[in-house]
Amino acid sequence: MKTNRRTFMKHAALLGAGVSLLELSPRAVAAAAAARAPGTPSNPTLDTIHALHSTHGNFTDQEIPEETLQAILAASVRSANASNMQCYSIVVVRDRETMKQICGYAGSRLLVYFADHNRLVASARALGHVHEPNTLTNLITATVDATLAAQNAALAARSLGVDYLPTNGVHRGDMSRLWKLLDLPPTYCFPVIALVLGYATEEPAHKTGRLTGPGVIHDGKYHAPTTEELAELTRRYDDPESHLQIGFGQQWKENGHPHYLDWMFTRWMKRRSAPSGEPTEIMKTIKRVGFLES
Ligand SMILES: Cc1cc2nc3c(=O)[nH]c(=O)nc-3n(C[C@H](O)[C@H](O)[C@H](O)COP(=O)(O)O)c2cc1C
Repeated sequence: MKTNRRTFMKHAALLGAGVSLLELSPRAVAAAAAARAPGTPSNPTLDTIHALHSTHGNFTDQEIPEETLQAILAASVRSANASNMQCYSIVVVRDRETMKQICGYAGSRLLVYFADHNRLVASARALGHVHEPNTLTNLITATVDATLAAQNAALAARSLGVDYLPTNGVHRGDMSRLWKLLDLPPTYCFPVIALVLGYATEEPAHKTGRLTGPGVIHDGKYHAPTTEELAELTRRYDDPESHLQIGFGQQWKENGHPHYLDWMFTRWMKRRSAPSGEPTEIMKTIKRVGFLES
């Protein structure tokens, strides 16, 4: 840890006046430096990426300056996008009560990302053409566009000292509420993810862990995990030091599960299964907005 901190201080000193890591707290920067494998390249962008973490609902009342929000939005739309057509919309929500109704969380601002073809449909129509994005391909492409834009926003936010929570709370409950709250167009628009922005009441005690090896990164060809590798994965999830467990599941042992993953697969993953034969709310919404091939 000491070595990492020293390495970071040296690195920070070399950065010069043009590049700043100062928006990240010293603890976040130290954690980012510690996350780097020894001998791997480092730079401010990588430091920000390694300092990324979600804030789970505990935002202060402090508001984000408008120029900071605009910088985040400008970075968000710089993401890659299919055919350079930006098949997404971002709705900026400023009212905390509305945020809660949309996704269950509130902070200073909420960015709601939609897979959205309506601008393109209107442009085509204005020029006397027809753009009818009524296929799953259009939904998937637009969902990727929207997701990349959301991740850029999270990265930009963190680089500016703003905390965030990505949430799929937009998919919970009756999704038609979003159409009512935000005046969404009836077709070819689907909520992908919401990003709460603000300032956390406190930094988390640790960053959530990640798997990086077998089963996640495959070198050259796909490699199905072996029995031994699966056992090692189970062990890694069980190890509290790996920080791979979500908060809801940390009592897995007390609740009688042999492993954390037993809790995950029997409890968490099963919590919203649709009754057999019944379409889920998401499927109903995707159908309603016209993205399914008939
Ligand atoms: C699609 C998606 C949905 C998520 N939804 C929620 C959510 O509803 N509530 C929450 O507390 N965290 C949510 N998260 C945050 C994840 O729990 C978090 O990213 C993960 O545990 C890793 O932690 P980290 O982002 O701090 O590294 C979501 C993340 C993603 C990508």
